[in-house]
Amino acid sequence: MPRSRARMLELVFPKDTNYLGTAFGGWVLSLMDKAASVAAVRHSGGNVVTARMDGVDFRVPIRVGDAVALDAQVVGVGRSSMTVRVDVYRETMTTGAQELATTGTFVFVAVDEAGKPCRVPPLPQGQQTPSARPDPEARP
Ligand SMILES: CC(C)(COP(=O)(O)OP(=O)(O)OC[C@H]1O[C@@H](n2cnc3c(N)ncnc32)[C@H](O)[C@@H]1OP(=O)(O)O)[C@@H](O)C(=O)NCCC(=O)NCCS
Repeated sequence: MPRSRARMLELVFPKDTNYLGTAFGGWVLSLMDKAASVAAVRHSGGNVVTARMDGVDFRVPIRVGDAVALDAQVVGVGRSSMTVRVDVYRETMTTGAQELATTGTFVFVAVDEAGKPCRVPPLPQGQQTPSARPDPEARP
């Protein structure tokens, strides 16, 4: 797996849901932030902070008992900023069937020890696309 990518697997418990029994959006967002930050730290090799969460689309509900598979990938790099695409799949554990449930784009900024923005390396050739395709085969 490239150093600018991270995958994560979580289980949905009742404490993570709303009164409809589906995953609470804020809980899913925090998982996305976590997976995206790992991808950004791997790419930059240092500390990062979340600067922006953009265009998060909750497409299908995630239910209690599902697994949540996250796939985060750095798809763009500026001087100190990194754009990370995050795809969230709900997985029926018994069958392994995955369905794209939520997508979003996050911007992280690499910071030095004083919290000031610092340079990040460029992306390897071929990874500089803002439209990384969802990968239903992606497994953490
Ligand atoms: C993100 C942060 C470090 C930027 O610091 P700053 O002094 O404003 O930085 P600059 O204006 O020099 O911008 C630095 C880079 O960040 C990007 N950036 C800053 N704010 C941004 C935002 N809201 N959205 C997208 N990119 C942003 C700039 O475009 C620039 O990118 P580049 O270096 O690739 O060209 C600062 O605003 C911060 O610490 N914010 C709080 C972060 C935080 O607490 N997050 C939540 C918890 S982790």
